[in-house]
Amino acid sequence: MLSTKSAADRAESVAACFREKFAADPQLWARAPGRVDLMGSHTDYNLGFVLTLPIGPDTWIAARRRDDGVVCVHSMNLDASDEFRLDAIESVSASRWCNYVRGVAAILQNEGLALTGCDAIIHSTVPVAAGLSSSAALECALATVFSGFGGWSLAPERKALLCQKAENEFVGVKCGILDQFSSCLGRAGCALLLDCRDLSTRAVRIAPDIRAVVCNTMSPRRLSGGEYAQRRAECEQGAAALGVSALRDVTPEMLAARRHELQEPVARRCAFIVAESARAESLAAALQAGDRTAVAHLCAESFAGARDLYEICSPAMAAMMEAMRAAPGVIGARQAGAGFGGCMVALVDAASTDAFGAAVGDTYHRATQVRPEVYPVEAAPGAELFDIEEITK
Ligand code: GLA
Repeated sequence: MLSTKSAADRAESVAACFREKFAADPQLWARAPGRVDLMGSHTDYNLGFVLTLPIGPDTWIAARRRDDGVVCVHSMNLDASDEFRLDAIESVSASRWCNYVRGVAAILQNEGLALTGCDAIIHSTVPVAAGLSSSAALECALATVFSGFGGWSLAPERKALLCQKAENEFVGVKCGILDQFSSCLGRAGCALLLDCRDLSTRAVRIAPDIRAVVCNTMSPRRLSGGEYAQRRAECEQGAAALGVSALRDVTPEMLAARRHELQEPVARRCAFIVAESARAESLAAALQAGDRTAVAHLCAESFAGARDLYEICSPAMAAMMEAMRAAPGVIGARQAGAGFGGCMVALVDAASTDAFGAAVGDTYHRATQVRPEVYPVEAAPGAELFDIEEITK
């Protein structure tokens, strides 16, 4: 499987694909990571806090400049290609991944940034539709390629905002800023506490004896622009009823005093977001201090809220939660991404990571007849150009 290849093998297969498609060698390589959120489900579009971990699984793009204003990309994962002219970028209805590529190009150009055409091969180890931000990794890697050829650079915050704009306006998905910020601002060895109002980030060093483990239910996230947009609208209704511009402005005390003014399900949604944003800050402190009791408690509250208040859990997620909870070495476990299937995340005693993975695999398989993918993840750096010689030597 491509995703288990070593970096050198991966580089070789991407370069070989490039030569086969374009009869030349790539001149430039970019990468951008996926992410798993450790706390803060759906808090980003409410301008609250998220604790996020940019992770090792990432998207690579190998590219070569063209001087005719044409962009020609090929995805190794999908075995599909797309070609368009930079002076006539239109969205395509048939395949969504093309719109991520076209959208980034269109939005960067609209900002007045000079783009050159290119041939490019895309290869990703971020699973698609699993809640680990494969689309943001693609967008941010591609923006990095264009900046490499264009001779300009963007601050990581601005790059993230432009990629989000591409997804919001060109692809038509009204996501928050979490995914693109995680992919652009990652730092090796650190989780990030992101304040989605002022867009500041704080690096959080997780205690060395605690490891984050991704547990993929293998049940594709049914995201459902519909459910996501509905949650977003309910939060906006709640904020309007409470007379604030975003739920970020609502404290737990204020909500307790005024919850009766809200109708259901808006009241439940608001209760989740207000508590979840506070938990993101608390989990940052607990993980840094290695406070396992607090980690366990915060994760349990987060999952219960996602299930009962925000209602983003699926049967596969419930089965995975049971498996994670029962496995040796588990400290805390909860949902990740938007919910509705996809990946979940556990915080595990570092020395028990293998035993945890084996037990989760068996229990989940017994309950669902599906083999999950379970793997520890390390904090990875954000979107960047990289030197392929360093990897292959
Ligand atoms: C998706 C969106 C993010 C965020 C999460 C839920 O990943 O793209 O902006 O809202 O869901 O936290």
